[in-house]
Amino acid sequence: MGSLNLKSIRKAFGNHEVLKGIDLEVKDGEFVIFVGPSGCGKSTLLRVIAGLEDATSGSVQIDGQEVINTPPAKRGIAMVFQSYALYPHLTVKDNMGLGLKQMGAPKAEVDAKVAKASGMLSLEPYLARRPAELSGGQRQRRHRPRHRPRTQAVPVR
Ligand SMILES: Nc1ncnc2c1ncn2[C@@H]1O[C@H](COP(=O)(O)OP(=O)(O)OP(=O)(O)O)[C@@H](O)[C@H]1O
Ligand SMILES: [Mg+2]
Repeated sequence: MGSLNLKSIRKAFGNHEVLKGIDLEVKDGEFVIFVGPSGCGKSTLLRVIAGLEDATSGSVQIDGQEVINTPPAKRGIAMVFQSYALYPHLTVKDNMGLGLKQMGAPKAEVDAKVAKASGMLSLEPYLARRPAELSGGQRQRRHRPRHRPRTQAVPVR
């Protein structure tokens, strides 16, 4: 985990100003939830934090470092998207291990981290199944751990 500091974040799409100067401090280990009506800017703010969207202005600091010009892959952030992105041809186990595998982690490390995450989420009985063979809740729980085993400073959802 890590700390997160937002200062005066503004984001406009054309004339539509969605984020109007957000200041937020999240300390290491704190758990924060954004709540608000549909369209109020929750996902936009998460995308700005992750670097998937450029803010119109403002500052994003992770562990005290300014990251506003740092590409998403170098921010140490894992994001779980609202719609699940499971590969239908891969098993639960292979979907979970994909992120680590793509980062070049050795197979033993991938297996160990997938085993740990699947234990925490009670997914062990389903590791050999494909996404179509899971319930909706099981799919969402599987969706999370692909990000969980990665070493992440700030996980956002
Ligand atoms: N790429 C874009 N171009 C133009 N407008 C956008 C774009 N992305 C989001 N918006 C608009 O910005 C506003 C905030 O969208 P956002 O996705 O952040 O909402 P949200 O709070 O996550 O909503 P929900 O609860 O429905 O997920 C909405 O009015 C949306 O239509
Ligand atoms: Mg949203």
